[in-house]
Amino acid sequence: MRSDLFLVPGPVGEQRMTGKTLVMIDILRASTTICQALKSGARAIIPVVEPGEATEMRSKIGVDITVLGGERKGIKIDGFDLGNSPLEYTEDKVKGKTVVLTTSNGTRGYNRAALSKLLITGALVNISAVTRKVSQAGQDVVILCAGQDGDFSIEDTLCGGMLLHKLLTDAKMELELNDAAELALLLYRSNSRALRQTIARGEHGRYLTKIGFGSDVEMATEVDSIPVLPISRESRIILDEN
Ligand code: MLT
Repeated sequence: MRSDLFLVPGPVGEQRMTGKTLVMIDILRASTTICQALKSGARAIIPVVEPGEATEMRSKIGVDITVLGGERKGIKIDGFDLGNSPLEYTEDKVKGKTVVLTTSNGTRGYNRAALSKLLITGALVNISAVTRKVSQAGQDVVILCAGQDGDFSIEDTLCGGMLLHKLLTDAKMELELNDAAELALLLYRSNSRALRQTIARGEHGRYLTKIGFGSDVEMATEVDSIPVLPISRESRIILDEN
């Protein structure tokens, strides 16, 4: 089977994803927030690109049953209920609600769900659940790292590398890797004992700590601490029931 990893989402053409398993990764912080919201009982997450789309979506679905979440430059958007800190997505805020989420990088690209056969939201907090699902699906996998404003990000690449490592060793899949996947695997294998420190030293880790969200970096680097499996169905992210 083939596994292609993309360090940034930009250059990925439709034909590279069609009919495959797609894993979207933005561990700081959209993927981690999505996992936490679902664990706290959110019915679904609807990822959208722009804040205006989020407010329109809320009017369409119903204000009472919707929570608006999102950030720009890491800070909660004016008029929104929640920012993008996973720690905010507690049961009392989101249980039974649909979260409409817009973030700078992580919620872009979910429109690819229609092309892929299966779209999974992956993070370190649910990495073993993602590994199991990808291996059960038994088809080519594309790992899309959200990166940061079009640039490579060390945290998403490490997470993609860890997923590949687990697919090869735990799930014993035979994978033909593209060069970016090889790079992510090398990066993970040489940093596997210092994941949190390496991520905290990265650009986005440092930025989040500077603006007061250091505990989000800690939460996002707790491997397998939120063992949920978010999958996309008709532009909604929901918990996989299988
Ligand atoms: C993003 O989508 O770029 C991130 O989730 C930003 C953040 O740290 O909130």
